[in-house]
Amino acid sequence: MLRVAVVGSGPSGVYTAQALLRQSLVPDVVVHVLDRLPCPFGLVRYGVAPDHEKIKSLQGNLRTVLEDPRVTFLGHVRVGSPGVAPRQLHELYHAVVYCVGAATDRRLGVPGEELPGSWSATDFVSWYSAHPDAAADQFPLAAPSAVVIGVGNVAVDVARVLARDAAELRDTDVPDAARAALGRSRVRDVHMIGRRGPSQAKFTTKELRELGALPGAAVRVRADELARDPAFVDPSGLPAVARRNVEVLRGWAQQPPVDRPRRIHLRFFLRPVALLAQHGGAPGEVGSGVRAVRFERTAPDGQGRVVGTGTYEDIDARLVLRSVGYRGVPLPGLPFDPALGTVPHRAGRVLRAGAPSLGEYVAGWIKRGPTGVIGTNRSCAKETVDALLADAAELTSRTVAADPVAALRRLGQEPVEWPGWLRIEAAEADLGRRLGRTNVKIPDWEGLLSAARTAP
Ligand SMILES: Cc1cc2nc3c(=O)[nH]c(=O)nc-3n(C[C@H](O)[C@H](O)[C@H](O)COP(=O)(O)OP(=O)(O)OC[C@H]3O[C@@H](n4cnc5c(N)ncnc54)[C@H](O)[C@@H]3O)c2cc1C
Ligand SMILES: NC(=O)c1ccc[n+]([C@@H]2O[C@H](COP(=O)([O-])OP(=O)(O)OC[C@H]3O[C@@H](n4cnc5c(N)ncnc54)[C@H](OP(=O)(O)O)[C@@H]3O)[C@@H](O)[C@H]2O)c1
Repeated sequence: MLRVAVVGSGPSGVYTAQALLRQSLVPDVVVHVLDRLPCPFGLVRYGVAPDHEKIKSLQGNLRTVLEDPRVTFLGHVRVGSPGVAPRQLHELYHAVVYCVGAATDRRLGVPGEELPGSWSATDFVSWYSAHPDAAADQFPLAAPSAVVIGVGNVAVDVARVLARDAAELRDTDVPDAARAALGRSRVRDVHMIGRRGPSQAKFTTKELRELGALPGAAVRVRADELARDPAFVDPSGLPAVARRNVEVLRGWAQQPPVDRPRRIHLRFFLRPVALLAQHGGAPGEVGSGVRAVRFERTAPDGQGRVVGTGTYEDIDARLVLRSVGYRGVPLPGLPFDPALGTVPHRAGRVLRAGAPSLGEYVAGWIKRGPTGVIGTNRSCAKETVDALLADAAELTSRTVAADPVAALRRLGQEPVEWPGWLRIEAAEADLGRRLGRTNVKIPDWEGLLSAARTAP
């Protein structure tokens, strides 16, 4: 029998378990899927936007894997420090596959980034997704203008949530406090800003189009700004997604502006150079939150990058969300490449001092870096599982724990198993019924753990 621990129950963890179940090289496989949270599905639960119900419903496909009798879900088990050390886990299982994602955000590295009112999109997403580690309702939504820095799909998500009327989020699983705060929001102008040109934006066309279909918000673009991008003027050499994006933006540039209660201003060739404080106060002083973001106008350098032009534009905002990418965090006891924010590996085998470490593997964002949609993790996990199976003979020759769950308990862990997760789901359905909504997520550790442990 091959006993495998998969650390992380996001898409890459679940696809790793699925690939292990589907192969026929080693018929007798047992998979334990561990997660530090009591809830499975990683960013599908805690990242995918609440108004993307179809993508959210992928949780249904992922759950069929976790419900397979050869799989045991062990939520609320943290690997690292504090938690179970990779060295200890290695003694309990023949193989451990780390699928821990990229939990934190990248920084801008500009003055004023720490001012009150400046947040990462990661924080904002975690808040409206009810992640139990999320910041409380501290986002300044009382001023009319907000800035989102970055033009990737996460930027589109947060801009869209800011531009929606809270009533549109009624039939989603957004926690009640976040929905109420968004309902009180006075944000009317959301400025979403790219440092390069429109043909270089990272968002995908479906997501871009969706901005133009919001009932209460109008998209505003500036034809003269878009035309600074030579590939916008002549998109014939562009890859398909960029070309389609350009077509959508061209359509918007040609339309007369529509009047709606909110506006999303899509801007390009502006790079952030500083966040400016109210009253010129120092960070941390009363009233010294963000007042505006100073951008430098950029111009294409002909090689896909941009250069500064020495002219500046300040855009007013009390709320600034930097959406400039996620970043992996080191897991104590596991090698880490700080430059890439990933675990060094070869075809999924973890490298220690440059050599493959037998029994240790990675998949997903912690292997590739924080890019790619849910489906990308399937082929990524398959590559890793192929490497693991090639090592199977050596792996199974090691003696490991007969009862790893008991061993994890002895190490101080108190796992929430699948029935506990089902109780959380039932409690969220119940909360939704009481609030007259669909399932509403429980946003705090205490609530989640008490739901998991309370008999129905
Ligand atoms: C805001 C956002 C929205 C997105 N929306 C979409 C979308 O609409 N469509 C789409 O196709 N893709 C979307 N993506 C991309 C998609 O979510 C990722 O490709 C995918 O989630 C990466 O999977 P992963 O398993 O590597 O990481 P994750 O999904 O992050 O899963 C990692 C898991 O590991 C657990 N974990 C972390 N550290 C530990 C530890 N030390 N011990 C135990 N467990 C641990 C975490 O709790 C988590 O459950 C989105 C991404 C983001 C950031
Ligand atoms: N609906 C969906 O399918 C969906 C939803 C959300 C996320 N996702 C996926 O999840 C992954 C992560 O998305 P993401 O949006 O976090 O990352 P991303 O696609 O890498 O976009 C990051 C954005 O930040 C910009 N940026 C980086 N550093 C910057 C800086 N210092 N100053 C200004 N701008 C900066 C980038 O511009 P440059 O290009 O100039 O570097 C880019 O526009 C992507 O693969 C995405 O497709 C998918």
